[in-house]
Amino acid sequence: KKITLSVIKADVGGFVGHSGVHPELVKKACEELDASPLLIDHHVTYVGDDINLILTHELGCNNEDIRRLARNILSACTEVAKKLKLCGAGQDLLSDAFAGNIKGLGPGVAEMEIEERKSETVIILMADKTGAGAWNLPLYKIFADPFNTTGLIIDPNMHCGFNFEVYDLVEKKKINFAAPEEIYDMLVFIGAPGRFVIKHVYHRGTGEIAAVSSAQPLYRVAGRYVGKDDPVCIVRCQTGYPSLGEVLEAFSHPHLVAGWLRGSHIGPLLPVEVKDAHPVRFDGPPRVIALGFQLAGGKLVGPQDMFADPAFDNARQVALDIADYMRRMGPFEPHRLHLDEMEYTTMPQVMRKLKDRFIDLPEDRETGT
Ligand code: F6R
Ligand code: MG
Ligand code: MG
Repeated sequence: KKITLSVIKADVGGFVGHSGVHPELVKKACEELDASPLLIDHHVTYVGDDINLILTHELGCNNEDIRRLARNILSACTEVAKKLKLCGAGQDLLSDAFAGNIKGLGPGVAEMEIEERKSETVIILMADKTGAGAWNLPLYKIFADPFNTTGLIIDPNMHCGFNFEVYDLVEKKKINFAAPEEIYDMLVFIGAPGRFVIKHVYHRGTGEIAAVSSAQPLYRVAGRYVGKDDPVCIVRCQTGYPSLGEVLEAFSHPHLVAGWLRGSHIGPLLPVEVKDAHPVRFDGPPRVIALGFQLAGGKLVGPQDMFADPAFDNARQVALDIADYMRRMGPFEPHRLHLDEMEYTTMPQVMRKLKDRFIDLPEDRETGT
C-alpha cells in the first residue's frame, strides 16, 4: 500500500507582526485535523508566521479532498486570526487581506506518494521569509555534491546519482537533468533561483522520488511576476538516499537567499530549532527548521527537531555575522533586491512624480557633461 506525505502551509496571520503563529491557530488546526477521517496521521508546526500542516494519507498527490480539508482548516484558522486581529489575517487565502502586496495566492504544497521502505526516514524542511529557490543550493549539495554527500562516492546504492526536475517559473516549463553528467548545464539554470527552481529529485537506480519542494509557477500581476513565498521541502533519507546528516550538512553553510524584510532583501538562511523560529531582527533573517520523522504505516513517528544540535551553532554565528554585514548596506543592492524582484516598491509612484524633472542627456557621448 502506498502512503502520501503532504505538507501544506499558509500564512493566515502573524503574531506579533509577521514574526510568529499564535498558539490558538495551532490549536484550531490540531482540533480540525483530529476530527478528519481522511488522514492516517498529522503534525502541526510553524516557522515564523507560517502554519504548516504535515499530513499522511492514502489518497495520493493532488487529491481534491485533502486540498479541501487543508483549505477549510486554514480558513478556520483565518477566522481565529481575524478575531484576534492578527497581522495580515488570512493573507495567503484572501485577496482582500491587509498585508504586503502579494495576497491570496493560496496555500503552498509539497507532497510525495511512496511505498514505505523497511525504515522510512524523512526530513521536512520549512522556511520563512524566503522563496522556493532557497532550496536550490542545498538540494544541489545534498544530491549532487560529493563534498557534501560522501555517500555519492562510497555508497553503492547512491553511486548512480540523481535526476533533478527543474521548473522555469516564468515560462511555466520543466526540464530534467541527470547528475552528475549534466551538472554544468543544470547549474546554468539553478544558479538563478528566482526563476529556475528544483521541484523534484529522483533516484536514478530505482526512479523513486527522493525530494519534493513547494515550487510553483509565478503569477503575472500588474506587469510583475509574483509567487508564493516561505517554501517547504520533503527529503527522504538513508539506505539509497543521503543520510540524515548529509541532508542537514547542506545547511552548515548559511547561503544567501532572497526574502527577509518585505520580501525585498538578500540575507543568510539561518538554521534554527522550532523554539527559535520567530524572525524578528529586521523581520528576519530568513530561517529554516527541519523536522525528522520515521514513517510507520503512515504514522508520523516524531518529530525530532533536527537543528536543535549545538553542532549548528557555528553556522548560526556565521549567519548572524553575515546579517550584520549585509544590514550595513541599508537600501542598497545587493542587500536590497534588484528592482524587478522586490515584493514592495514605490518606484512607479516616485517615477511618476519626478518624470518631468528627468532631462535627456545629449546623444553625443563626447559632450555629455
Ligand atoms: C516578509 C514579511 C514582513 C512584512 C513587513 C511589512 O515576508 O512578512 O517583513 O513584509 O513586516 O508588513 P506589512 O505590509 O504588514 O506592514
Ligand atoms: Mg508573512
Ligand atoms: Mg511567512
